[in-house]
Amino acid sequence: MRAIAVSEYGATPAPMNLPRPEPGPGEILVKLIAAGLNPMDWKIADGLLKDSVDASFPLVIGQDGAGVVDAVGDGVTRLRHGEQVYGVFGAPERGLGSYAEYAIARDDGPVAKMPAGMIYTQAAAVPIASMSALAMVDRARVDAGQTVLVVGATGGTGQSAVQLAARAGAKVIATARDDMAGTMRRLGADETVDHSKGDLNGQVLAVHSGGVDAILDMASDTTAAEHLAQLLRPGGTYLSTVWAVNPDAMAARELRGINFEVAPSAELLDRLSDIIDAGELRVRVEWEAPFAEAAGALAANRAGGARGKTVIRI
Ligand SMILES: NC(=O)c1ccc[n+]([C@@H]2O[C@H](COP(=O)([O-])OP(=O)(O)OC[C@H]3O[C@@H](n4cnc5c(N)ncnc54)[C@H](OP(=O)(O)O)[C@@H]3O)[C@@H](O)[C@H]2O)c1
Repeated sequence: MRAIAVSEYGATPAPMNLPRPEPGPGEILVKLIAAGLNPMDWKIADGLLKDSVDASFPLVIGQDGAGVVDAVGDGVTRLRHGEQVYGVFGAPERGLGSYAEYAIARDDGPVAKMPAGMIYTQAAAVPIASMSALAMVDRARVDAGQTVLVVGATGGTGQSAVQLAARAGAKVIATARDDMAGTMRRLGADETVDHSKGDLNGQVLAVHSGGVDAILDMASDTTAAEHLAQLLRPGGTYLSTVWAVNPDAMAARELRGINFEVAPSAELLDRLSDIIDAGELRVRVEWEAPFAEAAGALAANRAGGARGKTVIRI
């Protein structure tokens, strides 16, 4: 099968011809039509998991994907042959990932029926980013009447976080440069602040002198997060997807600090499918890259400036 893989950590992802995997007991084989790109993909290729997972090489890049169940192993009861599914397909210990014609998932793993109204290239853009956003809104206990600042709001995870926090009834402040301010408002942000135009704290406090209830942060380093945390009201919550928070220091200030790690699951995907089918979450695909341009798409994401999701057509 065709795949985009690395021969070792740190190598440049490249097209390779690799054996098609076989589903074992409790597993499904999925013929992928599209893969979704996340920053995690190039971080894993760089060696993010090298101390925690004994990866097999060549290692196929990618987590998110959407496609059709092509075969099922013994004992599979939930998903069926021919079903359209989306989910997370990375299995580095077997060298498997989603930038490939075929991938394996567990029947009890993070894979689910695709949202009814979506095509494959949209569905592949959903899993990691939107599961993260949904779980973050849960963990922050975002509620009606609260004020939530989303930092990194214009990226794949941030755009879903803005919509899901607004859906929960919160007043949402989103970071956005001028080119994205209108888009963020259309997605449900009440206000935008511009991270390229100086201190965010000053911009937020100019409108919300009492601060905010929660910060969902996809971008700030530790120094920036410590400064932004001054915006939180007592009892407020700071979630960082890039592990920039010191929970003990936050607790000493009566704040909840959480270094967030997504736990992908079929349950989260099923909830997202319902939300998407109800028209309450849109996933904006910024770039549908042909398979041959996958390595370039990874390099572009690493360089920054995402304005939505990138999807690879398999
Ligand atoms: N731990 C987890 O479970 C988990 C889950 C999901 C994501 N993540 C991580 O979260 C990060 C974001 O993921 P993503 O998928 O949303 O990435 P993405 O789609 O590449 O988006 C990154 C966005 O961040 C914005 N940004 C960068 N620096 C910023 C700053 N200082 N202030 C405000 N916005 C800033 C960029 O906008 P500009 O170009 O305008 O600056 C861009 O729109 C990645 O590092 C990813 O690995 C972790």
